[in-house]
Amino acid sequence: MRPMHGKKLKGIAMGLNLRVNNNHVCLNAVDLHAVARKYGTPLFLYDLGCISHTIKTVKQYFTDGTALYYSVKANPNAAILAHMRPLIDGVDVSSGGELALALSVGFRPGQISFAAPGKTDAELSLAITHQIGSISTESLAELKRIEKIAATLRKRANVSVRINPASVPGKFMVKMGGGPSQFGIDEEQCADVFRCLKKMPHCRYTGIHVYSGTQCLDEEALLENVRYVLQVSAQMMKVTSLKPERINFGGGFGVTYHSGQKPLNIERVCSRARRQIEVFKRENGLSRMTAIFELGRYLVAEAGIYIAQVVDIKQSRGRTICTLDGGLNHHLAAAGRFGPLLRQNFKMCNLSNAGSAARKRVTLTGPLCTAFDILGEKVAIANPQIGHYIAILNSGAYAYSASPLFFLSRPTPRELLVNGASVSIARESFTPDLLN
Ligand SMILES: Cc1ncc(COP(=O)(O)O)c(C=O)c1O
Repeated sequence: MRPMHGKKLKGIAMGLNLRVNNNHVCLNAVDLHAVARKYGTPLFLYDLGCISHTIKTVKQYFTDGTALYYSVKANPNAAILAHMRPLIDGVDVSSGGELALALSVGFRPGQISFAAPGKTDAELSLAITHQIGSISTESLAELKRIEKIAATLRKRANVSVRINPASVPGKFMVKMGGGPSQFGIDEEQCADVFRCLKKMPHCRYTGIHVYSGTQCLDEEALLENVRYVLQVSAQMMKVTSLKPERINFGGGFGVTYHSGQKPLNIERVCSRARRQIEVFKRENGLSRMTAIFELGRYLVAEAGIYIAQVVDIKQSRGRTICTLDGGLNHHLAAAGRFGPLLRQNFKMCNLSNAGSAARKRVTLTGPLCTAFDILGEKVAIANPQIGHYIAILNSGAYAYSASPLFFLSRPTPRELLVNGASVSIARESFTPDLLN
C-alpha cells in the first residue's frame, strides 16, 4: 500500500515514495523522524519497494536473451540480496565472502559470476568447487592458477576473459579501464590469452567481460560502451574462433546524486542497447548468446537513506558548523571520498523541521578527527538544531560497506528495511571490539 497524499519531496527518485505529510517526512506510511527516535541514530534504511520497482523497470526493457545481474558489492546486505533473488537473473560477486553470501541466500551457482583482481587460491577453489556460472579471469597468471586448481579438484571451471579496453568513453565518472590496470587483461594481450585458454582441459570458455566504469549518466557513452564491447567480442571471435555463450557488459548506470543532474532515460538506454545486441547476435550467428548487465548502484542507491543526529552546532569564521553523530565512517561517498574527484552535496533534508520553508546554509560534518569528514558544505537545510535528525538520500549503494566503519571505534549504524508500512532490523549495530 503506497498512500499518495502529502507533497512529494523535490528531486526524489520515482521509486521512492517519500512525502511530507503535516511536517513529517514519510517513506510510504513510515514516519522517518519516529523511526530515528525509536531505533536510534546513526542508521541506514532501505526501501525494498523502491528496489523492486527499479529492478522491474529495468527488466521490462531487458527482455529476450538479456540478463540483469546485481553487483553485490554495491550493497551486500543479506536481507536485500534475499529480497532481490526472485527478481533478478544472477549476481556478480567479487570475493569469497560475497560468493558464500550469494549461495547462502539461495542463488544457484550457475547464476553467479565472479570478477575481482587478486582472487586467492581459496576463493578460486570455492568458485570451482561450486561450478559457478563464470569466473572472470583478470590475468594470464590467474588463468593458469584456475587451470591448476580445477585439475586438482577434478572439475572444469567456467571461465570468461575480462578485457581491459584500450579506451573508455569519457563520461564514466570513475573509469576502470582504458589504461594500465589491475582489472582485466589488456585488449592487446587477449589473443594470446585466448590461445592458452583453448588448450586448457579444465577450463571451459564462457565468454567476454568488460567493466568500463561507474556512475555514467550519459546515454550515448553507455551505448558507445556497448558498441565497443560488441566490436571487441567480434574481433576476438575472429582471432580465436571461440564463440561466447555470454557477453558481460558490466554496470555503470548512474544515479542523480546532486541537484542539476539529469536522470538516465532507462527505457531508451536499455532498448537501444538491446537492439544493438540483437543485430550483433544475428550478424554473428549467436542466437543463444546471453547479454549480461551487472548493475550495482542503479538498483539500490535510491532506495537507501542515511539518518544522523545533530550533536553540536557552532559558528566558525562566518560558517555554521553542524556536527552529526556519524560521518565518513558510515558514508564515505557522501564525504566525496569514494568515487567523485570533488565532493558535492548529496540530497538532504531535516526530518525534525520538515514543514519549514526557511533554509539555512550550513556545513555538516561528522564526528571524526579528520578534516575530510565533511558530509555537506553550504547545504540549504531547514534550520537545524541540536537533536534534529538529518536524512541523506541516495545512500543505498557503496555507503555502509564501502566506509571505514571502525575508524574511531564508534558503534556501527543499524541497517533497517522498510517494506510497505513495516520496518525491521536487517543488521544490528555493533561496537568494534577494542580487545581484539
Ligand atoms: C566488475 C564489476 N561489475 C559491476 C560493478 C557495478 O558497477 P555499478 O555500481 O557502477 O553499476 C562493479 C563496480 O565496481 C564492478 O567492479
